[in-house]
Amino acid sequence: MRLVALTGSLILGLLSAQSVNAASLYAGEAKAAAVCSQCHGIRMPSADAPFPPLAGRDLDYLKTALKQYRDKTRKSDIMNAIAGSLSDDDINNVAMYYAKLKP
Ligand code: HEC
Repeated sequence: MRLVALTGSLILGLLSAQSVNAASLYAGEAKAAAVCSQCHGIRMPSADAPFPPLAGRDLDYLKTALKQYRDKTRKSDIMNAIAGSLSDDDINNVAMYYAKLKP
């Protein structure tokens, strides 16, 4: 009986954590589709494209890179301009989206 209740609350906890993730993922996906995919592609950038692939990359790596582009500690004319308009939420969402994509 206790176990059932415990399992129940565990599942509930997981579900609510997942719906938060789902919302961020959805926002990240929208951003990626509207902005990032123009250069980075969604899954498979063409092999000769000068744009680094993002799918399946480490979440923290992506967040750090975007924050560095935003505060211009990492230089790239293109990415400095793009990251300059991203909020912390945008960065978290889009990084989560790309990190979860299968490369
Ligand atoms: C106009 C083209 C363009 C768009 C649009 C663009 N990027 Fe980039 N991105 C680049 C280029 C070029 C580089 C390589 C810059 C460099 O040398 O540091 C890059 C590099 C990156 C890197 C670093 C990857 C690595 O391997 O270190 C990340 C992370 C990144 N972009 C994320 C994004 C995200 C997220 C978006 C959408 C919000 C986005 N980019 C939109 C052109 C673009």
